[in-house]
Amino acid sequence: MASIRSPKFILAFVAGFALLVILNHNGGNINIDLASGTSNETDTSNLPYKFEKNGRCQGDERHRCIPPLHVFEKRFRAAPKYKINVCAIEKNLSTIMTAIMCFLFDEKKFSDKNRNLNEEMFHQRFCRTRNEATSIDHLERKFKTNATDWLHLAIVREPIERFVSGFVDKCVIEQVWIENGKLCNMCRKNITCFAERQYKRMVIHSNGGKLNNFDDRHFFPQSWRCDFSAHFRRFTFLQYKNEHTEPFLQTLYTHLESRNVSNSTIEIINKQLHDGKTRHATVGLSERDIYERQVRSDPYILQYIIWMYYYDFVLFGFPLPEVPAQKVQIKIV
Ligand SMILES: *[C@@H]1O[C@H](CO)[C@@H](O)[C@H](O)[C@H]1NC(C)=O
Ligand SMILES: *[C@@H]1O[C@H](CO)[C@@H](O)[C@H](O)[C@H]1NC(C)=O
Ligand SMILES: *[C@@H]1O[C@H](CO)[C@@H](O)[C@H](O)[C@H]1NC(C)=O
Ligand SMILES: *[C@@H]1O[C@H](CO)[C@@H](O)[C@H](O)[C@H]1NC(C)=O
Ligand SMILES: *[C@@H]1O[C@H](CO)[C@@H](O)[C@H](O)[C@H]1NC(C)=O
Ligand SMILES: *[C@@H]1O[C@H](CO)[C@@H](O)[C@H](O)[C@H]1NC(C)=O
Repeated sequence: MASIRSPKFILAFVAGFALLVILNHNGGNINIDLASGTSNETDTSNLPYKFEKNGRCQGDERHRCIPPLHVFEKRFRAAPKYKINVCAIEKNLSTIMTAIMCFLFDEKKFSDKNRNLNEEMFHQRFCRTRNEATSIDHLERKFKTNATDWLHLAIVREPIERFVSGFVDKCVIEQVWIENGKLCNMCRKNITCFAERQYKRMVIHSNGGKLNNFDDRHFFPQSWRCDFSAHFRRFTFLQYKNEHTEPFLQTLYTHLESRNVSNSTIEIINKQLHDGKTRHATVGLSERDIYERQVRSDPYILQYIIWMYYYDFVLFGFPLPEVPAQKVQIKIV
C-alpha cells in the first residue's frame, strides 16, 4: 500500500480531482483527459470507446460519488518472455489467470512436472511469487525490463454483476458471516444494508482512512486497483461477464497470439482449461439472478451502486444501469 504522503497517493488524488473537474465543467459531455495537469502516464486516449453523456455524478451529486483512481491493492503476474503483464481483479478469474501466467512464465518446467493448469488454479504453489510484481516499477526492476513495450492486460467486470456476484457468493451461499460476524458488513443476506455500509467504507477510504478487509478487497472500485492511478494509459482492458467465459478466452488468446505465444501453447492452455471438472459453480446461478433482478429494479440500491461505481462504468466502458422511477415488484418464477 502506498502511504498517504507517497507520490502515488498524491498523484491519484490529483488525477481523481482533475477528472472530476473536467467531467463537471463539460456538463456531462465527457471528454476525459487525465493527462492535463497530472501525469502523462494517466490519460484515457487509448480507450476503444467514446463516453456518452449521462448526467450522473455531476453538479450536486458529484460529491456523493466515490472518486476514481485511488491506490488500493495491486498485484501483477508477468511472463517476461512474451512481455505480458496481467492484473486480474476479480477473485475467480484471477485464479485462472494466475495459472495461465504461471504456465507462460515457465512453460517447460510446468510441462516437465506434468502440472495441470486446472489443478494449479487451486494450489498455486508452482510459480509462487516468482512471476509476481506489486507495481509496474517493481516489474521493471524485478525483470530488468522496460515496461513500455509490454502488453499490460487488465480484466474488468461489469460493476453490478461484480457486486451481486461477490455478495451472493460470500454472503448468501458461503455465508462467511457465520464464522466471522463482522463480514458482509454485519448485514447477513440483506443486500440493501450491505450496499449502504460498503458505500460508507469507500467514503472513509477516499478520505484517507486505512481500510482493507475482506469485503473491501471484493467490493472497492476496480479503478482503484492495478496501479491505474499511475499507469491507466498503458492498459488494455478485457471485459468479463458471467457465463461468457468463452468469448473472454477467445479475446485473451488473440492477445496472446499478438505477443507471439505459439498456437500449440494456446491449445494446451485451452485444452487444460476445458479438461478439468467444471469449476464454475452453477449452484449460485439462480440466487444470483434473483439478487441481480432485485438490485436492477430498486432505485434505492441502484443509487448506491452508481455512487460507488460511476467511474468504473465510465472508465471501463460499461453502460450505466437504467434506474426505474420507483421500486419495481419482482416476480420470481
Ligand atoms: C507530459 O508531456 C508533455 C508534452 O509531451 C511535456 O511537456 C510534459 O513535461 C510532460 N509532463 C510530465 C509530468 O511528464
Ligand atoms: C523505456 O522506453 C521508453 C520508450 O522507448 C523510453 O522513453 C523510456 O525512457 C524508457 N525507460 C527507461 C526507464 O529506460
Ligand atoms: C435491509 O436493510 C435495510 C437498510 O439497512 C433495511 O431498511 C431493511 O429493513 C432490511 N431488510 C430486512 C428484511 O431486514
Ligand atoms: C512476433 O514475431 C514477429 C515475426 O517473427 C516479429 O516481427 C514481431 O516483432 C514479434 N512480436 C513480438 C511482440 O514479439
Ligand atoms: C494460429 O492460429 C491462427 C488462428 O487459429 C491462425 O490464423 C494462424 O495462422 C496460426 N498460426 C500458426 C503458426 O499456425
Ligand atoms: C467463484 O468460485 C467460487 C468457489 O470456487 C464459486 O462458489 C463461485 O460461484 C464462483 N463465482 C463465479 C462468479 O464464478
